[in-house]
Order: sequence, then structure tokens, then C-alpha cells
Amino acid sequence: MRHLIDIMDFTTAEIDELITTALDIIENPDKYRDVCRNKKLATLFYEPSTRTRLSFTAAMMELGGQVLGFSDAKSSSVSKGESVQDTVRVVENFADIIAMRHHTEGAPLEASQVAHVPIINAGDGSHAHPTQTLTDLLTISREIGRLNNFTIGFCGDLKFGRTVHSLIQALSRYENIKVILIAPNELKLPSQYKIGNIIKDVETIEEVLPELDVLYMTRVQQERFLDQDEFEKVKDSFVINLHKLQTAKPTMRILHPLPRVNEILAEVDSDPRAAYFRQVGNGKFIRMALIYKLLLWSNK
Ligand code: NCD
Repeated sequence: MRHLIDIMDFTTAEIDELITTALDIIENPDKYRDVCRNKKLATLFYEPSTRTRLSFTAAMMELGGQVLGFSDAKSSSVSKGESVQDTVRVVENFADIIAMRHHTEGAPLEASQVAHVPIINAGDGSHAHPTQTLTDLLTISREIGRLNNFTIGFCGDLKFGRTVHSLIQALSRYENIKVILIAPNELKLPSQYKIGNIIKDVETIEEVLPELDVLYMTRVQQERFLDQDEFEKVKDSFVINLHKLQTAKPTMRILHPLPRVNEILAEVDSDPRAAYFRQVGNGKFIRMALIYKLLLWSNK
């Protein structure tokens, strides 16, 4: 049984196959309209989500399959104290594949240890978010035309941002990628995620903006702070506006997993470098590729 718990569960060749499949889906959607007919995806979301859950839902619908699940654990037996493992043992009777988001790190891994259907981690605490990483890789390859030889700056909440943790890991496998970390002292990248070619670790965006090919912006994750005074101190650390972008390359691309709060002003949205809403669209296509392939790879 194959699962996607951590982006490193997939080989680079498998990731490339997913990207190629997503590109083929974009070009030839009719080929894929029925490939998941009679299959069901369960979305078990214990934590809020807009894009991730809806893109999984739309992805399965566009593959001809169906979707069931919950987006509010309070309305399920979880509120009666059911464990994640028991919930999965129950739900696998009703679905062929499960996407799970959980506020506890490791919950999707625990689920995968008892599951007889593929489990996809749709975000666990501040740990990992591998399907966002697949979305980000597809976006980078479509926007700048390659997955090697570029400089990427990660800006904002590098401490709690699970999308950052997963993407940095994935990029460490590609050729000649230079990583620049841009975060205030309180939100620096935890040491266990410092892999790959990190060339600078700075506290202001202005000093590195001209050298970036990709700027990966993130939201300061208020819900993960134990001390709200600490959150107030750092919440407006970085704000991107058109004025600041004057020093950036015209070919640079801005990615953001969204939701944004105020780290990118709305005036930036119409700049061709703003790729974050195109990135959302890519999220549906790569999840289509993932559901389709993961079922095949698991003989489901
Ligand atoms: C991110 C997440 O949930 O980790 N959003 C997403 O899935 N696109 C980022 C965030 O919440 O800031």
C-alpha cells in the first residue's frame, strides 16, 4: 500500500511522473474524465481548510469519482473520543483513498499504519504538507520553466509553516537550487528542516530581493503561537508591495500557499510576477494526478 505522508515518501522519478501527469491532464482533460469512476475519496479534515479540501474534492469529481467526509471533526465521532486509527479503520470501509488534515503532527502517519487504503497527508500540525509541495513544484516548473538552477527565498513564518518545511526538503533533491531564508529571529527555520543548499539566512527582504527567481511568501501562523503577545510582535514583519518589487527581477515569481493575511498587498495581484492564484489552480491538477496514480500504485 502506498501513502503520501511526507514528500520524501516519493522518489524524484515519482514526483516527476506526477508533474508530467498533471501537465497531461491540463492538456487533455477528456482523457481523465472517467479514470476514477466508482472510486470514492474520503476527506477527513480535523483542521480548517478552504483550498486543500475543495481542491481534493474538485480533483476527485473531475476524475469521475465521488467524495465523502467531514470538514469539522466536532460533527463526527471524533467528538466522542474516537482515535484517528479507529476512524480510519471505519472510513476505509466506505472509501478507496483518504485525505486527512490534522492539527497533531504525525496523525496521518498513525492512520497509515493501520490503513488498507492509501492515506494522503493534507497537512499535519506545523510538520508537513506534501500535497502543497507537489502544487508548488508544478507551479515553479510551469512559471519559470524548470526545476533546477534557480534561487528561491522563503519569507515569513519559517518556524511553523509546514508548506515551507516540505518544500525545502523536496528542493534539496534538485540540481543547483539556492535557498535563502528570510525571517525574524522568532520565526526562523527549525534546524531539522535545514537541508539543501541554504546560502543565506537574513532578517530583511530588501537585501536579497534582487537575486531571487522565486519568492515564497507565507502567513504568520497565529494559531500555532502559545503566547499571543509573541504573535503581535512578529505579525507584520514582512509586507510585499509594488514599491518593494521594483528591485526584483521582472521574471521573478511570487508564490504563496494562501491564505494571505496582509503579507502581500492586493495591489501586487495584477503584477505578472504574482503567481499565487495560478498556483491554486495547479493544486487541483496535481491532486488529480496524485489520486489517480496513488490508486494505481496501490493496485486499488
Ligand atoms: C497552508 C496550510 O494549511 O498549511 N495553506 C494551504 O494548505 N494552502 C498555509 C497556511 O495555512 O498558512
